[in-house]
Amino acid sequence: MSTRTRAPGNRRLGVLISGRGSNLQAIIDAIAERRLDAEIAVVVSSRPDAPGLERARRAGIGTVAFSHQDYDSRDAFDAAIARELERRDVGLVCLAGFMRLLGSRFVAAFPNAILNVHPSLLPAFRGLDAQRQAWEHGVRVSGATVHIVTPELDDGPIVRQAVVPVLPTDTADSLAARILVEEHRIYPEAIQAVLDGGWTIDGRRFVERP
Ligand code: GAR
Repeated sequence: MSTRTRAPGNRRLGVLISGRGSNLQAIIDAIAERRLDAEIAVVVSSRPDAPGLERARRAGIGTVAFSHQDYDSRDAFDAAIARELERRDVGLVCLAGFMRLLGSRFVAAFPNAILNVHPSLLPAFRGLDAQRQAWEHGVRVSGATVHIVTPELDDGPIVRQAVVPVLPTDTADSLAARILVEEHRIYPEAIQAVLDGGWTIDGRRFVERP
């Protein structure tokens, strides 16, 4: 079944991080270099000490940190983030190393308007430390995926993927470093494609206008 969908109502991004924020930086750079026609309305962190927050501040972008310990339930934590994003009129939510699973209410509040970047060729190696999982499994290729977020972990329609060969000399860390280069390349491309619209969701498939 094909579902006709609309591009997000505006080009204002809310970028959610938990750590170093290199994918956030790739998005900041793509906007500055005009490869991505968008603006970052806010950077939200699940940790007040996330190094990525400094990248946002340096770029003059507003930041907010939410600690899940401050909330009674996951729903309350999610609702606080959703309120902040709505207050900033965010049209597209971009998870960039955001290490907390968002519940179905949050996902429903931004229908087909949440993206995630994951360091494997999904549906292989969901969850934490995907690069090490792939390396330990002995696959010959791995890569990076950008997908639309559903309530399931690392699931949802795939917008962009990039393949990265696993070399005989690789360690999990060297593989992760090459995958990261591809994440930085495909995430801004995927955001641009979603913002530009003209796509539909057909079952699990993200179908772009030819
Ligand atoms: C990235 O490799 C991203 O793909 C991964 O966390 C890292 C964050 O790095 N995300 C996941 O594993 C989500 N399941 P960054 O903070 O430098 O962007």
